[in-house]
Amino acid sequence: MLTYQDAYDILSKYSQTHILKYYNSLSDAERKSLLSQIELLDFSLLKNVEDKAEENKRGKFEPLDAVGISEIRQRKDEFMTAGINAIKNEKVGAVLLAGGQGTRLGYDKPKGMFNIGVNKELYIFQCLINNILSVVKKAGAWIPLYIMTSEKNDEDTRNFMREMKNFGYNSDYITYFIQDMAPSVGFDGKILMESKNRIAMSPNGNGGWFSSIVRAGLLNEIKKNQIEWLNVFAVDNVLQQIADPLFVGAVLCSGSQSGGKVVKKASPDERVGVLCLENGKPAIVEYYEMTDEMRNRLNADGQLAYNYGVILNYLFNVEKLEAIVNDKLPVHVVKKIIPYINENGEQISPSEPNGYKFETLVLDMVSMQDSCLSYEVARENEFAPVKNSEGVDSVETARELLKKNGIEI
Ligand code: UTP
Repeated sequence: MLTYQDAYDILSKYSQTHILKYYNSLSDAERKSLLSQIELLDFSLLKNVEDKAEENKRGKFEPLDAVGISEIRQRKDEFMTAGINAIKNEKVGAVLLAGGQGTRLGYDKPKGMFNIGVNKELYIFQCLINNILSVVKKAGAWIPLYIMTSEKNDEDTRNFMREMKNFGYNSDYITYFIQDMAPSVGFDGKILMESKNRIAMSPNGNGGWFSSIVRAGLLNEIKKNQIEWLNVFAVDNVLQQIADPLFVGAVLCSGSQSGGKVVKKASPDERVGVLCLENGKPAIVEYYEMTDEMRNRLNADGQLAYNYGVILNYLFNVEKLEAIVNDKLPVHVVKKIIPYINENGEQISPSEPNGYKFETLVLDMVSMQDSCLSYEVARENEFAPVKNSEGVDSVETARELLKKNGIEI
C-alpha cells in the first residue's frame, strides 16, 4: 500500500499532485481508498494526450470488396448449412459489449436496460436476447453468451437480467466479465476528480474485451468447450443479429480468419468507419481519416469504392485472438463529457465535452487479422443503433426501424 509520500512522489513525476489536494480533509478510509486508486493508475496513458497528433499515422489504404447481399442470397443454403452446423456443434460463442456509459443517450442506467417500447415494455437487452434466441431455436443448441460490463454498471446489469429471468435465455449459458477502467483527464491533461477522494475513472473502451476475458479466466473455459469463433457485438443496435448462421457460414466457407458485418454507406460523407485494406491487410478507416478523393472514388460499376461501413458486429477466431492477446492496441484519446469537481471542490456536470477519455477499440483488432470477410447486410433490417436521445441514431429512429421489421413496440 502506498504511503502519502509515495503517492506524492509518483504524482509529482507526472505533474498530477492536485489529486491529493483534499487529502487532509479526508477520513482514514477515504485516504486509503484514494491511495489505492493512485497505486492502480496506469500513468503511461497520460502521454497519449501529448501524442494525439501522432495518433492517426496510417498506411496505404485500398478498397476491400464485400460479399454482397445478392451473392449471399444465391449461396444461402451453403452458408446456412455451414453456420448452423458450427452453432449446433457449439463452436460459436457470442460476446455482448455492454461496458459503455452511453453518455450521448443521457440515460443513467446500463443502456441495455433502456425501454425502447412504446405500447409495451421492450428493453434493449430483450431485443438482443430475442434475436439470439431465434438462432438458438433454429440450431437446436444454446450459444454461450459472454456479457462484458464495467465496474460502473455490472451490478445493475446482473440484477436487471436476473429480475427479467434473462428474457428466457438459459442462465447456464450466460457469463459476465468486467472490463478495465482508465482515468479521465481535462483538456490540459490533468486527471479529473469525481469527488474529493475519487479519481474520475471510466471504462477503457471496447478493445479490451478479449484481454478482459483472459484475465477473468474465461479463455480456459472457452478452450475446454472447444469454442472456435466469437461473435462480438454492440449493445446498442436493437436489430443486431447475433451468431447469425449465414454470417458464420460465409466466414467459414471463405476461409477467412475473421469477418465483419457491413452496410452500404448512406452517402459518401456518412460518419462511419469503412472496412478496407491498409498495407494489404484488413483495417477500418475512420470517416475523419478519409480524404475527399477516397470518399468519392467510384468503382468501374459506378459504386463508391469505399462503400461498406462497419456496424460493430465481428466474428473472430479464438486461436488467432490468443496469438495476438499481448499485441498492443492503439489508445484513442476521445473527447467526452466528464462530471468532475472543480478547484473549489464544487460538483460540475458539464453539458459539452470537457476532457478526454482513453479508449482502445475493437475495430483496431481487425488490423491484427490476416484476413477479414466483409459481409454485407441490409441496413434497414440489421442496423438500428441507439446512440442519441433524439435526431440521428436515436431512440426515435430505432423505434421506426423496429416497427418496419414487424417488431411490436
Ligand atoms: P460507444 O462507442 O457508442 O460508447 O460504444 P458508449 O460508451 O456506449 O456511448 P457514448 O459514446 O458514451 O454515448 C459502442 C459499444 O461498445 C461498448 C458499448 O457498450 C457499446 O456496445 N463499450 C464502449 C464497452 O463495452 N466498453 C467501453 O468502454 C466503451
